[in-house]
Amino acid sequence: MIRMGFNDDVTAAAERIAAAEEVTIISHIDADGITSEAILAEAVQRAGIPATTHYIRQLDPLTIRTVPEDRSLKVFVDLGAGQQNLLEERGLTVDEVLIADHHVAQPATLPYQQVNGVPYGHTRLSAAGVAYLIAKEMDRKNTDLASVAVVGNVGDMMARETLGLTGIARTIVDDGVANGSIRATARDLNCYGTSTRPIHVCLSYNDDPLLPGISNDINGSLRFLQKVGVPLKTRDGRWRVWEELEPDEKRAITSALVQQLLAHGEPVDRLFAETYVFPNEAARTPLRNASEFATVLNACGRWARPLVGSAICRGDRGTQYREAEYMLNNHRTIIRELLTYIIETGVTELSHLQYLHVGDRFPDTIVGIGAGMALSKLNWRKPILIMCTLPDDPTLTKVSMRTNEWAVRQGVDLQAVLTAASATIGGAGGGHPIAAGAFIPHDVEEEFVYCVNRLLGEQFAVPDQNHR
Ligand code: C5P
Ligand code: C5P
Repeated sequence: MIRMGFNDDVTAAAERIAAAEEVTIISHIDADGITSEAILAEAVQRAGIPATTHYIRQLDPLTIRTVPEDRSLKVFVDLGAGQQNLLEERGLTVDEVLIADHHVAQPATLPYQQVNGVPYGHTRLSAAGVAYLIAKEMDRKNTDLASVAVVGNVGDMMARETLGLTGIARTIVDDGVANGSIRATARDLNCYGTSTRPIHVCLSYNDDPLLPGISNDINGSLRFLQKVGVPLKTRDGRWRVWEELEPDEKRAITSALVQQLLAHGEPVDRLFAETYVFPNEAARTPLRNASEFATVLNACGRWARPLVGSAICRGDRGTQYREAEYMLNNHRTIIRELLTYIIETGVTELSHLQYLHVGDRFPDTIVGIGAGMALSKLNWRKPILIMCTLPDDPTLTKVSMRTNEWAVRQGVDLQAVLTAASATIGGAGGGHPIAAGAFIPHDVEEEFVYCVNRLLGEQFAVPDQNHR
């Protein structure tokens, strides 16, 4: 049968899974990977098919060996598209592989079946969105997993540039709104922590947009809010969170923020975004909205407990959730330390790049997150590259890069840069235009950094050609 488009690919994948006798899901340890796995594992289990899960940090020559040699259908989610050559090398046949991904695909000899929005122009649909569409195609009852898919999409920053989910990912929000599991609010405050942080803390952490006199200044933030006059505490003395403010109170604060931005000649458009609250979750917990839920999952995954995150996506609010809360605290502390380390140590600036090496001080699973957070506090015009050593393989260096929408509009594509630069020195890289990573031999770090700088220079020089 000839398949014509993305929807046909989704249908074909659903049919393939439904016909399988046994399924192995291989997924990635971040929020998008965990939500993708949870959605598929739940759908497969509901269909009465035995399923096993393998979580991996990255699909590479070492981790590919954990993929079992058996007769199960191997479903690669949130990874695989960019590493099809590895699947071939592992000897995996077309008959046993299905890829559900959103990373840029690399050419392969074998025509593995794939569901990926990117080649069809659906670039703001993460793997969790793809997994959800497959699950929904398997059984309409799986639309109860819409909120999990929204967490994956938001966790992978699919809503960032457009200030809300768009396209196919937005239709998943509609499913959740229809079944009452998602409350979508248009033009809400674009700020992280609206369900758990005191409002002045929330605003002081905001860097998109940077709020003059408020961002990075918790006292300034408190003074600003006190002047607006909205009660910041409840009657019993607890700090209120943004989500529990009345609409007129929210308006009073956002109007004052608009004035503040205008007074400093700053644009106000990024102050507002569509937000996704889960009304069935307990108030003032990090599971209450999509972006905070995603952090919980990242904390689980990046600290080697992705199955805890998966259990939470599938409904656990008991022992697994308590364990996740503990990891979330730890995750936050280490990321704060990493951010402070980057700012205090400083970066080396080249013509088109800023970089630093954190040695073995921080794990490779979080250095990219820290680099992304540090960028707005550094020279945001230059992409940042962060390196660290891999404790389990001292011959390798992990590289993470982050940039911003502005640079991507100038033609920067970190995925292309890292793929090309790694290829020349025997490393392996991939990811997205705005966020990418690689593993490289540790003895070519300097040469690698200069190569990346040169490639970035070429991309900055021809914006029209690369414009996306
Ligand atoms: O997709 P990959 O795992 O698997 O990327 C995850 C990392 O890349 C996260 O840190 C996320 O913040 C970042 N990312 C991003 N913008 C995108 C896609 C990913 O910042 N469009
Ligand atoms: O590890 P980090 O968060 O920096 O990863 C950013 C993006 O780069 C992710 O999408 C990840 O899947 C991708 N990546 C990759 N190959 C690597 C390392 C990271 O494709 N060797």
